[in-house]
Amino acid sequence: MDIILKNANVAHRDEPVRNADIAIKGETIAAVEANITAEAGQTIDCGGRLVSGSLIDAHVHLDAVLAAGLERDNQSGTLHEGIEIWTDFKPKRTVEAIKERARRAIDWEVAQGAGFIRTHADVCDDAQLSTQALVELRDELRDRVDIQIVAFPQVGIKSFPGGEKQMRDSLDMGADVVGGIPHNEVTREAGHASVMFIFDEAEKRGLKIDVHCDEVDDSHARFLEVMVEQTFQRGMGASVTASHCVAMHSYNNAYAYRLMGWVARSELNVTANPFDNIILQAREDSYPKRRGMTRVKELLQAGVNVGIGHDSIMDPWYPLGRGDMVDAASLALHVCQMSGVEEIDTCFDMITWRNAQNLGLENYGVASGAQADLVIFDAASKADVLRINPACTHVFKRGQLVSETKPAESTVMGGRVDFTRGN
Ligand code: FE2
Repeated sequence: MDIILKNANVAHRDEPVRNADIAIKGETIAAVEANITAEAGQTIDCGGRLVSGSLIDAHVHLDAVLAAGLERDNQSGTLHEGIEIWTDFKPKRTVEAIKERARRAIDWEVAQGAGFIRTHADVCDDAQLSTQALVELRDELRDRVDIQIVAFPQVGIKSFPGGEKQMRDSLDMGADVVGGIPHNEVTREAGHASVMFIFDEAEKRGLKIDVHCDEVDDSHARFLEVMVEQTFQRGMGASVTASHCVAMHSYNNAYAYRLMGWVARSELNVTANPFDNIILQAREDSYPKRRGMTRVKELLQAGVNVGIGHDSIMDPWYPLGRGDMVDAASLALHVCQMSGVEEIDTCFDMITWRNAQNLGLENYGVASGAQADLVIFDAASKADVLRINPACTHVFKRGQLVSETKPAESTVMGGRVDFTRGN
């Protein structure tokens, strides 16, 4: 064996497996068993700490990360001003500068346990700078992270000449997933036509779909039902993802529950993006203010696979963030009121195996035969990861140690502080 991790609490879908050893050979997990006695090049004693499959960021805009303030600050903090800033800034970028900013943010994510990232690349630019930069990075950084690129039409597909060509250009250049933004098209008919275009392209090319869907507070934004219907018609099931879906927050309950049943039956995935949606949505509300999040808890109860994305990291829409998926899950936990014991674990699942299902990852998880993409947390359980947000002491990608973090140490009056509950 190349590496053996001893005495791990293994994070599984259901109950954790306590005090297991994990053997890694090459890029693969060779065994997960008690007391593995084989020789290994390196042995790490986990001491009962949690070992999980890599964290997964299911939705981020790496072409915009760290761009906050470069053109000008977003003084109002609104989505609208963010789009104006982005539109002014976009043509001034270079491929190298996009890559440099994205590389930095990717390393933040990797150091905090991420091994898979699905990024959107803004295609509304004839030069296709975002797609070029991210396709190059996807290959250059393969040693530390697996990246999927979504061709994302920030301005729309059907609402201006050349929108369809820009989408096709990005896909021809190597984008992996077909994106969209139907609620941003000028009319409902254009939005509907954009969904048809997205499904046609995906079907023709054999690609997955991930659409910014109904990311508005308008209860009349109802493109999710169109996506569900097309997912059914074409039998595309779990290869389709609808991101944001915040209008669902404002739907009447009779419609929302009927729709959630259809979403579950279609097997379409939903990605929630708590950082941006909590900050950006419901800005026109007085009080009470809506939370601006999709119905995560109720979607899960209906049987829908829900995952979580970071969405923005210091960009014109959201000036904060450090690429921490545990932070994103913690925010979802609070905003969606998921404080039941099992619900807390589910919040961890939404940045691990649920996102893996969302992205269509095969060979994910801590199991014999899986790709050896692992994180050792300085905490013993999923719940403590959410509560403490501990260091990811070791992060492995394809069996290679790619990141190490020393846990912080606090003392009070000379005594070491232990953030576990004790007995
Ligand atoms: Fe987004």
